[in-house]
Amino acid sequence: MTESRKQKIGIIGAGYVGLVNAVCLAEIGHRVWCFDYDAGKVERLNSGVVDILEPDLPELLAGGLDAGRLTFHTTAEEALPEAEIVMICVDTPTDPQIGPDLTRLMSAVGSVAEHAERAEILVLRSTVPPGTSILAEEEFSRLNGSRGISVVSHPEFFQEGRAVEDCRRPLRIVVGSRDKDAAARVAGLWNMPDVPTVVSDLESAEMTKQASNAFLAAKISFINDIARICDAVGADIDTVAEGMGLDPRIGSRYLKAGVGFGGSCLPKDLRALVASARSHGWEPRTLTAAIEVNETQRRLVSELLAERLGSLSGKTIALLGLVFKPDTSDLRDSPAVAIAGLLIEGGATVVATDPAVHGGEPEIPVGVRLADDAYSAAAGAMAVVLATEWDAFTALDWSRMADAMEGTLVVDGRNTLDPVIIRDADLDYVGIGRGTVAG
Ligand code: UGA
Repeated sequence: MTESRKQKIGIIGAGYVGLVNAVCLAEIGHRVWCFDYDAGKVERLNSGVVDILEPDLPELLAGGLDAGRLTFHTTAEEALPEAEIVMICVDTPTDPQIGPDLTRLMSAVGSVAEHAERAEILVLRSTVPPGTSILAEEEFSRLNGSRGISVVSHPEFFQEGRAVEDCRRPLRIVVGSRDKDAAARVAGLWNMPDVPTVVSDLESAEMTKQASNAFLAAKISFINDIARICDAVGADIDTVAEGMGLDPRIGSRYLKAGVGFGGSCLPKDLRALVASARSHGWEPRTLTAAIEVNETQRRLVSELLAERLGSLSGKTIALLGLVFKPDTSDLRDSPAVAIAGLLIEGGATVVATDPAVHGGEPEIPVGVRLADDAYSAAAGAMAVVLATEWDAFTALDWSRMADAMEGTLVVDGRNTLDPVIIRDADLDYVGIGRGTVAG
């Protein structure tokens, strides 16, 4: 990157999105100041320590810090005065009843109005309901009417576990603004002329992100619905998904049936989009169906266990996996955590194990006991449930698991185990929609 294209960037929020942006922008050569209220986190980041599990993040953080291009601050006064572009990367939680909570986002706009004296562009990088960028623009004018700022909606499409890769090599760059020059300047930050870039109005950029996540969620719920029918008619969902996915109009990704989608994005964003649609008088039936199917999938394991074991009460269940997907440490809205909660509610004893969970995490339901590994979790268990498909679980010695267990039931909530291996260990295999291979 040429000297002239280096920008001074302030980032508000050193969470998952803010941090990945900060390290990647610093890697490109920009000067980045990152602001977060969490003093402990800021201190750790300034000494090169990352709290989340994300490939390449520690290395890029170290590189940015060493080059003097990246610093973390606990106040907007420190972080924002030099910035020409400020990116807001704060959380936008959604309450199922009330809808999205924009308090943190608007407070970040307030910090920009007050402290980012040189800022020309305000970028909304957080995932927000359509219409939020306009609200941010209005809030900025209300607080600092004397000075104009161009608002740009620039949604991110990072997948946890490969966020740095997604940021460094995006499939597309989406920028929306009323000010097309500002949009182009934000897209240009990444210095990626070969990446397809969609320049639009603010609302379309916001909707592109919301609709993308909603589509992925709906695709997962679709295949889970089909999985139920597969179980009923004796078809195998994995074979069906393989056959479907070979049609490029359908595509093979996000067709893995199981206990449903979770994490901090898909469930929350889907709820936010439903709330947004309803606030405009539209009932988005595909989206509400996707939510309903997902909730049904979460209940499936406890219902299945109650049926197969007679009741859950007093039964010990080994739960393999707690995080919402492998290779992360994220427990937010995890299907595995929901399953643990339902099993406890039904009176079962849950012994869980997860390579990224070490105890004390607030998301883990009260009563869940943690074991060091799958074999210890299986000791005395009537059933084993695989809820997160970590490699460590797919490579288990199932004869050893069978020796440790008291019962024989194995519920594969992610369809990643080999039913033949399970059966060879004299265990009973149940997958999700694997009617013909369940035996
Ligand atoms: C999701 C999107 O995939 C990203 O593109 C988006 O940028 C991000 O949200 C965001 O809004 O920031 P992520 O939350 O990391 O990324 O989760 P995914 O990898 O999409 O997985 C979501 C859930 O769906 C997981 O629980 C996973 O186990 C489940 N899933 C995924 C399935 O059940 N079946 C599948 O075929 C795929």
